[in-house]
Amino acid sequence: MEQNKLTNRTGAPVPDNQNIMTAGKRGPALLQDTWFLEKMAHFDREVIPERRMHAKGSGAYGMFTVTHDISQYTKAKLFNAVGKQTPLFVRFSTVAGERGAADAERDIRGFAIKFYTEEGIWDLVGNNTPVFFLRDPLKFPDLNHVVKRDPRTNLRSADNNWDFWTLLPEALHQVTIVMSDRGIPKSYRHMDGFGSHTFSFINAAQQRFWVKFHFKTEQGIANLTNEEAAAIIGNDRESHQRDLYENIEAGNFPKWKMYVQIMEESAADTYHLNPFDLTKVWPHGDYPMIPVGELTLNQNPANYFAEVEQAAFNPAQVVPGIGFSPDKMLQGRLFSYGDAQRYRLGVNHHQIPVNAPKCPYHAYHRDGAMRTDGNYGGTTSYQPNSFNQWHEQPDHTEPPLKINGDAAHWDHREDEDYFSQPGNLFRLMADAQKVLLFSNTAAAIGPAQTFIKIRHIRNCYKADPAYGKGVADALGIAIDEVLG
Ligand code: HEM
Repeated sequence: MEQNKLTNRTGAPVPDNQNIMTAGKRGPALLQDTWFLEKMAHFDREVIPERRMHAKGSGAYGMFTVTHDISQYTKAKLFNAVGKQTPLFVRFSTVAGERGAADAERDIRGFAIKFYTEEGIWDLVGNNTPVFFLRDPLKFPDLNHVVKRDPRTNLRSADNNWDFWTLLPEALHQVTIVMSDRGIPKSYRHMDGFGSHTFSFINAAQQRFWVKFHFKTEQGIANLTNEEAAAIIGNDRESHQRDLYENIEAGNFPKWKMYVQIMEESAADTYHLNPFDLTKVWPHGDYPMIPVGELTLNQNPANYFAEVEQAAFNPAQVVPGIGFSPDKMLQGRLFSYGDAQRYRLGVNHHQIPVNAPKCPYHAYHRDGAMRTDGNYGGTTSYQPNSFNQWHEQPDHTEPPLKINGDAAHWDHREDEDYFSQPGNLFRLMADAQKVLLFSNTAAAIGPAQTFIKIRHIRNCYKADPAYGKGVADALGIAIDEVLG
């Protein structure tokens, strides 16, 4: 059979894949053994840069189905009819670990969704937490440096990590979630997902709404303790990958219900908190959860590298009816992802099948490394032109966004309410959850220097005195000395 026959990369027969060609039975190798050279040269280039963060991940294909009509808020066609289905690809990930890291680590989880809509790709590149450590994207590379390895020891460093976190009190909300019982999900199937940022919706009447996206797991929330996770990692570093792959193979398709919170555009000016501050949630009492649809994962990728490793999610990729917001963190991300992917995968990474739109696309971008889609053939390569080719679409212009104020490096610390929301979260926890929060925190910050521990206890105390005292007790530090 033809398909049983080994060929080189250009289709010519390979006569021998066991023995290199040598000059004589025991002699040196010959340069004319071109199959050997091709095989080695390809192997030498098999590794591509891993994602700078979220390097370890798992992916699956699925479907989004609209269950409730939200067309009063958005004209995005993927939401325009109950029952409408849009294919998608999801990649889950841990954040700090490298590509070979264990899955069951205490960390945020990435929850990135690529919707292949009829109007182009919409990427919602979220996490399993509704908030984040930072309010300003200028700090993101620093955050990455402190959760990664120390430059001298090449070890993860509690000092670096907690020195930075405790110097940024706005991080306490996210730190509290990561140190809580939810800090190590049992699997990717057992956690919620969040768009986290505030985005915008635009409806057919050109009205803008602010929106937050939520995905609630239908498998139920389930978490691991530090001890359970250590036991799992001792036997299996790929526990999340295995769980996702095996459940999908068995036909046990994981599902999430999608909800949105909606805020009138003008309400952002008067709401008691900054709705574009990524370190804060919108309380559900103020902005209730509105059901939208259901996300199901039902197909494993056929090839991990091609489809998961080469997947490129980018918050800048939106479709008509879905837009950005003034959230500074979101604004910072709009540049970073495409830039990272041009480096990691190349300028034409949008043509890799997992990233390619399922609708026609006509961008006038030409050439570049690894162009494989015909490069628009002989079509006109400039615009405007006299040949009626590829006009811009002014119907999709967003309504103007009111801006006020002077250009400056505005101090985000003018809002000093760092502690009310982590305090509220703490007060919502059952006693057993609080005890876990204290012990998880003590285990994580334990190797750090005492002055860093004291700074953290003070931050926790400001959120709630019982939070500060609980962490101090777990660390064997007298709370009176910390406060005195
Ligand atoms: C991955 C930058 C904040 C979620 C990445 C990557 C970069 C990046 C460069 C690697 C992209 C690639 O190589 O494909 C940033 C910057 C941030 C930021 C500059 C803040 C200013 C966030 C936030 C979230 C998030 C707030 C969630 C709400 C993710 C996820 C991935 C990722 C899920 C992995 C996507 C995948 O599975 O391929 N980030 N990030 N990031 N980021 Fe961020």
